[in-house]
Amino acid sequence: AEGDAAKGEKAFKKCKACHTIENDAGEAIVKGGKTGPNLYGVAGRPAGSVEGFKYSDSLVAAGEKGLVWDETTFVEYTRNPKEFLQTYLEDSGAKSKMTFKLKEGGEDIFAFLQSVASE
Ligand code: HEM
Repeated sequence: AEGDAAKGEKAFKKCKACHTIENDAGEAIVKGGKTGPNLYGVAGRPAGSVEGFKYSDSLVAAGEKGLVWDETTFVEYTRNPKEFLQTYLEDSGAKSKMTFKLKEGGEDIFAFLQSVASE
């Protein structure tokens, strides 16, 4: 499903307690918390690849296994990060540092994140 970036911009308020969106020049597009990694340019990026961010071992392992954030993987991950990683890694012991679960609208947030990074 094609996401709606305008809806996604509003919905991003659920994420900004933990995630900032900051471009390569260091300018904040959305000033958010630092508990989670910067989500600037997340579309098309390998999982677990923000320099200097301390990810869980499971998210790093998923990135090494080839996980890249596209609309499908992003929507499924944000619905239930732990369950997604357990399935992706085929490891029932996989853990996520992100405990937040997004019930709906992941495709809108993905469209928003894609739009801010392509300007
Ligand atoms: C990781 C999206 C809300 C904390 C991630 C990643 C994505 C994401 C795509 C992986 C990024 C990467 O591989 O570089 C979102 C979205 C949210 C949201 C779209 C809102 C709908 C939150 C909230 C928190 C949080 C509210 C804190 C309470 C984290 C943490 C990680 C993470 C700690 C690292 C996970 C790990 O290392 O296992 N998030 N997130 N996120 N997020 Fe979120």
